[in-house]
Parts: sequence; structure tokens; C-alpha cells
Amino acid sequence: MIDLLINIDHIATLRNARRETFPDPVHAAALCEAAGADGIVFHLREDRRHITDRDVRLLRETVQGKLDFELSTNPEVVEICCATQPDLATLVPERREEVTTEGGLDVLAERPRLRALIPRLYDAGIPEVALFVDPNPDQVEAAREVGANAIELHTGDYANAPTFEDRRAEAERLAAAAERAHALGLRIHAGHGLNYNNFGLFKRTVPHVAEVSIGFAVVARAVLVGLDRAVREMRRVVKGY
Ligand code: PXP
Repeated sequence: MIDLLINIDHIATLRNARRETFPDPVHAAALCEAAGADGIVFHLREDRRHITDRDVRLLRETVQGKLDFELSTNPEVVEICCATQPDLATLVPERREEVTTEGGLDVLAERPRLRALIPRLYDAGIPEVALFVDPNPDQVEAAREVGANAIELHTGDYANAPTFEDRRAEAERLAAAAERAHALGLRIHAGHGLNYNNFGLFKRTVPHVAEVSIGFAVVARAVLVGLDRAVREMRRVVKGY
């Protein structure tokens, strides 16, 4: 059964929009877990535009399930990740001018840097290191080569496909990348743009997925129906009951 990890960055975005202390992403994480989320995801960005260092400390102390720390290769953030010891570190590309993460890591181009960095994360006691990659078999192979034990498949192109045929084609690309990763012994995660409507085709088409990371769709639905119901509904979609 696929694990559902909820990304709570957008709770922090809302808090910071008014430079307030609420809504608190730490509080939100506890509500998500109470509603059945298998874990919590956050991205500590270099510019701290949503999650802050204080949030990271409290999330580490309070999250009961799997804690996924998303980060770039920025040395200061890598230090914080090592000290935090999450259950999973997911390396993503990061550009200050982007609204959200755009595209997967270019693992092929960044091989030397990643090969040096990934052992530091394991040595710090982090058991699982994932690279966020586009569904491209060459990138998947490079992820294995630089020492990651997991990948997160970027589902953005799938989610944004303009027609159903395009979406089906993107699902097939994701499936081929997942088959390759599975054959290489990598654990497979997926995320970006997954929602209540597009999850069905993804689930039917893409094999071997162990967990998904979903943020915006759940937080947006929560504004209308509450976080507890939004997480429970997504749990039903992901787990199929
Ligand atoms: N996975 C990664 C690597 C991401 O950067 C994001 C966005 O923060 C997500 C998953 C979740 O995407 P969404 O908010 O569209 O569900």
C-alpha cells in the first residue's frame, strides 16, 4: 500500500504572508498525522520563505511518522539537515525566483557534487536519501550511481499535461522510469501536482511506488473543508478505499 506523506510548506506560506505566528505548520502536521498521514514533508529553503529553522526543530520533536526533509545542496541547509536527522532527506533543485520546485535535479550534470554530499547524509545517521528526478531512465541510473537509495519521481509534467492523451503518455514515462528504478533496487517515491482527480490514472499506471508527497491539493482543499477531512479524503484516494 502506498504511504501518504503530507507537505505542510503551504501552511507556513500562509502564516508568513501576514508575518504571524499562525497557522502553525507544527500544529498542522499533528492534525495531518491524526487524520492518518503516514508522514510529514517540509522544504527548508535557503530564503526561508515558508518553513523556518524553528519549525524544523519542533517538527523533528513532534512528528511521529516518517519525516522527510527536502533540501538543496546549500551547505548551511545540509548542516541543518544532518543535525535534524530526519528519516528521509530528499535533494531537490532550488532557484530563488521560482514559485515552487521546477523540474527534477540534473543528476548527470551534478554527479561529482552529489557523490560527495550523499555519504555525508548517511554518515549523519539519515537512513534514506532520495533524489527528485524527472522520469528519465538516465537520471534514474545516475541517481543509483551517486549513491542514493531512493528517487522521488517528479510528477509535475503528468499533473500539468494539457490533454488526457498527454497525461497518459506522461504516466507511461513515469512507469518506465519506475520500472528502471525498481530493477536497480531503488525505493520509489513520487510527487508534485498530484491531486484528488489525477491520482487514479497515476496509481493504475505507475508500478512500485512506495510513497507519495502531496501538499498543495490537500492544503487548498483544507481551506474549504478542514485539514482533517482533506487528509482523510486524500488517504482514501491514495490507498484505494
Ligand atoms: N515533492 C517535491 C520534491 C516538491 O518540491 C513538492 C512541492 O513542494 C512536492 C512534492 C509536493 O507538491 P504539491 O504541493 O504540488 O503537492
